[in-house]
Parts: sequence; C-alpha cells; structure tokens
Amino acid sequence: MGATIITLGAQRALQTVQARPALDANSLAHFVDPLPIPPIARPSGVHPSPADPTIKVPLYRIEMREFETKLHRDLKPTRQWGYGSSAPGPTFETRSGEGLMVEWVNSLPSKHFLPIDHNLHGAEAGNPEVRAVVHVHGAKTPPDSDGYPENWIVPGQSALSYYPNDQDAAMLWYHDHAMGINRLNIFAGLIGAFIVREEVEAGFNLPGGKYEIPLIIYDRMLDRNSQLYYPVSANPASPWITEFFGDAMLVNGKIFPYLEVEPRKYRFRVLNGANGRFFHLSLANRQTFHQIGTDTGLLPSPIELSSLLLAPAERADLVVDFAGHSGEAIALKSDALDLMQFRVSRGQPHDTSSLPTKLRPINRIAESESVKTRILTLTERDDLVGNAAMMLLNGTRWSMPITENPVINTVEIWNLINLTDDAHPIHLHLVRFLILDRRRFDIFEYQTSKTLRYMGPAVPPEPSEAGWKDTARANPGMVTRIIMRFEGYTGRYVWHCHMLEHEDNEMMRPYEVVASAKEASNDVVAPAQEWCVNGRLQIRENR
Ligand code: C2O
Ligand code: CU
Repeated sequence: MGATIITLGAQRALQTVQARPALDANSLAHFVDPLPIPPIARPSGVHPSPADPTIKVPLYRIEMREFETKLHRDLKPTRQWGYGSSAPGPTFETRSGEGLMVEWVNSLPSKHFLPIDHNLHGAEAGNPEVRAVVHVHGAKTPPDSDGYPENWIVPGQSALSYYPNDQDAAMLWYHDHAMGINRLNIFAGLIGAFIVREEVEAGFNLPGGKYEIPLIIYDRMLDRNSQLYYPVSANPASPWITEFFGDAMLVNGKIFPYLEVEPRKYRFRVLNGANGRFFHLSLANRQTFHQIGTDTGLLPSPIELSSLLLAPAERADLVVDFAGHSGEAIALKSDALDLMQFRVSRGQPHDTSSLPTKLRPINRIAESESVKTRILTLTERDDLVGNAAMMLLNGTRWSMPITENPVINTVEIWNLINLTDDAHPIHLHLVRFLILDRRRFDIFEYQTSKTLRYMGPAVPPEPSEAGWKDTARANPGMVTRIIMRFEGYTGRYVWHCHMLEHEDNEMMRPYEVVASAKEASNDVVAPAQEWCVNGRLQIRENR
C-alpha cells in the first residue's frame, strides 16, 4: 500500500483571481424590474408508478436548454442554461405521498460556455464537456433517481426519474449535480423549486395563492456585454477558484427586483441558491418577520426574527406581515447589500390568513437511539505545487472506497469536525437530520494528538435551524453534531459541502445505505492519517 504525504497549509491557497472585464453590478439601477415568479411545472401525461404499476403518476418532461433573458432593464439579454425556458426553472407543485416522474431531457449545446477545469475529478479532458444530471435536493428519492453525480447524460439524451414524495411538506429544490462541473451548470441557471404540500398545512390558514411566493436568491458576476462571468484562477491550466462571490444579486432570476405587495401577510419560500455566498437577511425598516419552517419541514411554532442567516442550499419558510406599512418601500437586504424591494400598496388590507401559534411538533430523535457515532473531519489542503487548495471530508477523496455505510432504519450521529477557517454547509442526500449542537474544540490538540478537547460548552442550534434540516453549517473550529435516521432506501448516495466550488473539488463523498451490518463492514477503508509537523497538518492517504 503506497502512501503520499501532502502538506496542508493553514493559509489560504496561493491563488489569485485574474483581473476581469466585469461590469460593476452596483452601478445598475436598483429595483426597476418586477420580481419574476417562475411558472408552475405542468405534467404532459401519466406513467405507471415504478412503486406500483397499477397506479399512474403524473409525468413531466423538462428540457434543459440554452436561452437568453434580460436579467435587468438596462442590460442586454444574457445567455443562460435552464430547465424549460427560464432560470430558475418551473416550480414543481406536488403533494406528500403522491409520486411523480420526470423525463429530464438534455437539450443543451455540446460546448460549455463557462471555464471547465479539466484537473477536477469527473471533468477530465476526455469526458464530454456538457454533462448534466438532476438532483432534487431534500427529497427522499430512490438511489437511481437521486442524481448521482456520475449518472450524467449528454446533449441528446434523457433520463427518467421517479420522485415518491413520501415526506413532509417543505420547499425542496432541484439543480444540476454533474461531477466536476456542478458549480458551472448551476451558475449557468440549472436550478428550480420543488414544493411538497400536505393537508395539514391547509388547516393552518397560512397565506397562500398569490400571497405565497418563492424567493430564490443567488449572486452572479457579469461582463460588460451583459454575459455571465465566472472568474478563473491565475493558472490557465487550472481555472478552478476556491469560492465564488458576485456583486449582482438576483432574486428569481432578476437583478435587484421589486415586488408590489399589499399591506397584509405573505408567505415567502426562501432558498439560498448561491454557489458560495451566505445571505444574512433582514428588512431595511428593521421590521421583524416569522419563520415557520426549515429546509425539510415546518417548525413546532413560528419564531420571530429580525435577521436570518442562510448558507448555500438552506431554505426558510417565512411569513412577513406588511400590514401597517402602506405606501412604504422596504428593501430586503443581506447585511448592507440590496437584494430586492417590497413596495407596499396603499389601501385597506384584506387579510384572512393567519399565523398559527402552533405548527407541527417535531419528534426528536433521542441520542440513545444512535447505533453509530462517526468522527468526520473537514480539512483544507494545498496540492503539491501549492497553487490550488482542496477541501476534503475525512481526509478522503471522492474516488476512495466508501467509508460511511449506515444500516437502513438505524440512527447515527455524525460529528463534523471543522479544521478549516471557513464555515462549510454540509448536505446529506436522502435523509433529513436535526442539529444536536456545536462545540468549540482545540484544533491544535486535535491535529497533534487526534484528541478532541472541547474549549467551551455545547451550544444548541439557533432557533432558525432547530427543525428538520438537510444542510447545516459546520462552523470553523467547531464540532457540529447532527443526528439522523437512514430511512427510505438502500443504495448509494452522496454527502458533501454545498459550497459548489468545494463540492466540485473533492469535498464530496459517496455513502451507502446498506441492508444489514454485515454488508457495512465489507467496504471499510482506513481513512487518511493526519498529524502535525511544525504546526502544519500532514495527511497520509492510504491507497
Ligand atoms: Cu443541493 Cu448534493 O445537493
Ligand atoms: Cu466547503
């Protein structure tokens, strides 16, 4: 068994971003375009359910296409890729327990228009440039329909996926997941909302119909020709960058849009669809709002917030009441940045909706139910030439054998030990989880002796994350503990960081839900060994 020793720099990668021919998005007029509402996806027929062929389920046909749309009044049309003819694509509306099928059709061109890095796993020069595979994020989906990153299709091909929707009401979302170019495909526009509804919600009398609106928020950069601009590193042979942050803030596909609202309650289904940016949301007039749900379900009761932090891929189900604000223009901000504006009309509010005091109880999973506690590190390292960092989960790359193989219907606790300087939003496919707590630890001691020495008390999740989650921030220098039951299906899934630049460069691992503990033991590999020399972390990969 050979071993490679790689030095892990504590410093950031020695990487610079090339000077760019970019447009200063903040020079664009703010709040001049109305907020688009993505169309609702319509089935084109029915199909026998894979779970029970005597039942027919709706069949959708969604084409991935290239098109041009105006992102802002004062820009020329921008080339984008999307599902259907908009980015974000059409919103799926479905009900819990009602399965549906989608034929995902790759009708994209055969050349990519964004900078592929052929050094990344899956994006090697011999592979087709344009590859796509759809994942419904937050969905409990059989493995062959889950959008495994290597199950991509090329232009001219299509894939049929089955979504049983056997889960609680929540706003999920769908996006591309192709190995090694995921960040570029999503950046190009391959993203959309997927709403699962349930009878129980009707009883809550929440704002609905035109008073319920998805807000899909992300940032982009544009060049002076109004085209999407994805920056590259200083090394032309390896254009990958560690993180993307843009200055153009888009909501539902428009830059700094506005929405005319009535002085009443609205339900906003908010998604952070950014590659890497965390949004810290607040309303410019400092009014509070209520959160009624997290990523994959409703909260036990609404919580009142004046601001809300959302990492990439996280969602929040919000109720905002504009009553008492007739005639005001209220910006939705992320810290000091404008995202969009609400223009409250004058006149008498008509609001028969309510904000219930109780929503849906959460059956918490007892820690005593856990049959396995995993210790999983998040690390960052430079490659041997020191020009591009790489982030790893548990010191293992994508292509190494599976190390996480939970047994179906069992409970596990995962300790995410973040040894980097960044918060990483960690996402597991298939399951929903609860955050148990976060706890500061001595990084140096962990690196030198592999001992976890805590430096403070365990801190419970914030109220805004104390519900069902599929993505959680693993904060730097902390152990974040999550607990989940591996329900639904056996088979191969993935877990990864949802900063798309990290995910594309090895911060993603396959995992496998197995039928019995016997199977689980077959596939175990010794994780990389890590130790410290002169304050720098060393990793020995066992291959
Ligand atoms: Cu949002 Cu692996 O996905
Ligand atoms: Cu990350």
